[in-house]
Amino acid sequence: MTILVTGGAGFIGSNFILDWFAHGTEPIVNLDKLSYAGNPENLRPLKDSPSYELVHGDVGNRKLVRSLLDKHAPRAIVHFAAESHVDRSIHGPDEFIQTNILGTFSLLEEARDWLEKNAHRRDGFRFVHISTDEVFGSLAPSAPRFTESTPYAPNSPYAASKASADHLVRSYHHTYGLPTLTVNCSNNYGPYQFPEKLIPLMILNAIANKPLPIYGEGSNVRDWLYVLDHCSAIRQVLSQGRIGETYNVGGHNQKTNLEVVNAICALLDEARPHNRIRHSTLITFVKDRPGHDKRYAMDFSKIAIQLGWAPSETFDSGLRKTVAWYLDNPEWAVRVTSGTYRQWIDKNYGNRGQA
Ligand code: NAD
Ligand code: TYD
Repeated sequence: MTILVTGGAGFIGSNFILDWFAHGTEPIVNLDKLSYAGNPENLRPLKDSPSYELVHGDVGNRKLVRSLLDKHAPRAIVHFAAESHVDRSIHGPDEFIQTNILGTFSLLEEARDWLEKNAHRRDGFRFVHISTDEVFGSLAPSAPRFTESTPYAPNSPYAASKASADHLVRSYHHTYGLPTLTVNCSNNYGPYQFPEKLIPLMILNAIANKPLPIYGEGSNVRDWLYVLDHCSAIRQVLSQGRIGETYNVGGHNQKTNLEVVNAICALLDEARPHNRIRHSTLITFVKDRPGHDKRYAMDFSKIAIQLGWAPSETFDSGLRKTVAWYLDNPEWAVRVTSGTYRQWIDKNYGNRGQA
C-alpha cells in the first residue's frame, strides 16, 4: 500500500525516500511544493520507477490533499514538509506560520475527514509527524538531555511554528483519535542538505576557499544525527511505534560549532592537500544569531528501549561520508543554489499537479 510523503524533495525527505526503496518496494507519493529547498533531482534514481510519483503542490492545498488521499488510499502519511531554517525564520516568519502551522493543520484536517469517510482504513493508518528538538528550547551546559517529557519552550519563530504543529498533532490524536506519532530529532547532516545549514555551508565554503562564518564564539552545542540514522528511526516508528506517542531521536554526538567546523577543515586538509592552505585559517567569527539557543542534546533511551533503535554512525564516520559526498557532487551544489536550477524547476514543474 502507498505511503504519502510530504516534503520529500527536501534534505531529509529525499534521503528517506531513497532509503525506503533501498529497503522495499511499497509505493510512495511525494507531495512537495518545491520551495527553494526542494530539489526533485535528488530523486532522479527513481525517475522511471512505477512505485514513485512526485506531485508538485502545497500541503495547505486541501483540495489537492483530499484528491491524493482519495486516489491513493495511503496506509500512512509521513509529514516532512516545512520551512526548516532558523535564520530564515528570523528574517521572515510568515512562510513558517503558513506551512508549518497552517499546512500541518490542513493535512490533519484532511486525514481526519478521510478516515471518517473510510473507517475501514483507520486500523492500519498512521500519521507520522517529523519535528525537532528545538521545540524544547535551550539547555544549560550541564543540564540533562531533553526527554519526551521536557516542557516545550521554543525560542525562534521556526521552533515556535514546529511546537504549534506538534501540539496540533497531539490534539488530533487526543480529540479525534487520529493515529498519530511524532518524531522529535536533533540536527541532521548528510548528503543533499541545502547549503544554508552549518555543515554543508562550511564544506562548500572551505572547498571554495571562502570564509567560514561562525556565529558568536562557536561554543553553541548541537547533537548531530546522520540523516540515514534518522530515516531508520522513522521507519521503525512507522512500523512499531505506539500510536499517540512521541519519540526523541538523537545522534549521541554533542559538539560545539567550532569543533564541527574544525573537524570539517581537518577532513578537507586530508582530502585536498593541494589547496595549500590549512582550511581552519578560513574560520571567521561573526555577529551572533539573535536568540541563539546555547545547547541541544537528546536523550533517546525511549526509542532505544521500546523499539530497539540506535544510530549506526559515529560523528567521525558520518562526517567523513558527508564531506566525501559534497566533494563527489560539486555540480549538485551549483545547481541548487543557481538561478538556472530555479528556471529548470519552473519549466519542468510549473503549476503541474496543482488542483
Ligand atoms: P528542507 O528545508 O530541506 O526540505 C523541506 C521540504 O519541504 C522541501 O522539499 C520543500 O519544497 C517542502 N515544502 C516546504 N513547504 C511546503 C509546502 N507548503 N507544501 C509542500 N511541501 C513544502 O527540510 P529538512 O531539513 O529536510 O527537514 C524536514 C523536516 O524535518 C522538517 O519538518 C523539519 O522541521 C524537520 N527537522 C529537520 C532537522 C534538520 O536538521 N534538517 C532537524 C529536526 C527536524
Ligand atoms: P543550523 O545548521 O542553521 O541549524 P539550527 O540552527 O537549526 O541548529 O545551525 C547549526 C549551528 O551552527 C547553530 O548553532 C548556528 C550555527 N551556525 C553558524 O555558526 N554559522 C552559520 O553560518 C550557520 C548557518 C550556522
